[in-house]
Amino acid sequence: METSNVIDPIASAAGSLGVLATTQQTIGIVIVVLLAIAGVIVFWFNTRAARPELGAEIELAPNRKPYYPDEELEGKVLDRVLGLALVLIAIIAVGLPLYWLAEPGRHDGADIAYRGDPTDPDDLGIFASRGEGLYVEFGCGDCHGGVQGGFRDHILLDSEGEFIALVPWKAPALDDVALRYDRDEVRYILDYGRPGSPMQAFGGPGGGAMTTQQIDNIIDYLFAISITPEEAQAAATEEIERSLEAGEFDDLGEAVFNLGLESGFAGGAYSCARCHTAGWSWGEPLEPGGGGTIGPSLRGGSTLSRFPDPEEHYEFVFEMPPPGAGYGVGGQSSGRMPSFGQILTEEQIRAVVEYERGL
Ligand code: HEC
Ligand code: HEC
Repeated sequence: METSNVIDPIASAAGSLGVLATTQQTIGIVIVVLLAIAGVIVFWFNTRAARPELGAEIELAPNRKPYYPDEELEGKVLDRVLGLALVLIAIIAVGLPLYWLAEPGRHDGADIAYRGDPTDPDDLGIFASRGEGLYVEFGCGDCHGGVQGGFRDHILLDSEGEFIALVPWKAPALDDVALRYDRDEVRYILDYGRPGSPMQAFGGPGGGAMTTQQIDNIIDYLFAISITPEEAQAAATEEIERSLEAGEFDDLGEAVFNLGLESGFAGGAYSCARCHTAGWSWGEPLEPGGGGTIGPSLRGGSTLSRFPDPEEHYEFVFEMPPPGAGYGVGGQSSGRMPSFGQILTEEQIRAVVEYERGL
């Protein structure tokens, strides 16, 4: 991992030897080695210094050896011990404050190393770099077109498990997922997948193979590589204009609702229909807004009774209420619908709301 050498030259030097990982481990190992060497030396001196046994034990027992005379014990010996104590106190008196002074810097340095340098967009940090590794390892990009959106062939089965068709199922772009969901909502998707779609459960709670920390690191990665709202809105606006000029849709509202239906733009990440229209994800939409994978039907005036006031409808699409919160008349959020306020412009959201109210 390239990022670790920012504050951690010892660790990365050790890391490149492929033996040691962190500064703490390196220091620990050095201490153990020094202690072992000291032990050998002490042992050697001890055996050398041991007096050969001579005569009766009564003469030579250590407790019978005459000790220092008073002048020496209370003079030289006492001074030596006190001198040693003074040196140790001095080391502690200087060392502790030094350690204490360096601690916030060490802490900030570790924070930057793990989370990435906020002033350097290319520095992912250790967590997100791990996430990037997992993203590759688990083949996320194979379906998600890197992070720009793609598709994956998927076998459709009927309720009896009989084969219906092999279809190319759009997989949404993930470089804007941080603009549409918060971390917990993304965690839910990764934990449980999207049943009935090619998106499987990856987290432990849904029966997947990833640990909580791995899921966290993938989320760190997705949030670290996010494009900005301006970039997202510019891309969506360009695609909307292109599709309207090409005559793919009749008006702005319909274009937003179905953005990417024919072109596959961003794997449908900016559309509504991928969740709200059955068959849309593989290019064979049934009734527009008639209900899809996880999105309920918006037809037959249901949005009018849910949101008697169009402004509330607009606010709901702009920013999805958090899981559990109520919306409109008797609605309750599950946190599975994205917020669109950061990836679409106000005009585009107002147009799609009007389109929905007419379904
Ligand atoms: C086999 C193909 C496949 C693989 C592998 C895969 N995905 Fe997906 N993923 C999809 C599809 C298809 C969808 C859209 C499902 C739908 O239509 O609702 C999706 C949806 C998602 C979503 C929800 C995005 C949104 O806006 O609705 C996230 C987040 C996501 N995937 C992340 C990942 C991550 C992270 C990995 C790797 C750990 C991964 N996916 C692996 C196919 C895949
Ligand atoms: C990733 C799937 C997904 C996408 C994309 C999506 N929705 Fe939804 N939508 C849902 C879900 C799920 C609900 C049901 C509410 C819940 O579970 O929180 C919902 C509910 C709604 C409702 C309220 C319906 C009701 O009767 O309560 C409206 C209105 C709506 N969506 C509009 C939109 C619009 C407009 C877009 C596109 C700009 C959109 N949705 C895109 C999944 C989605």
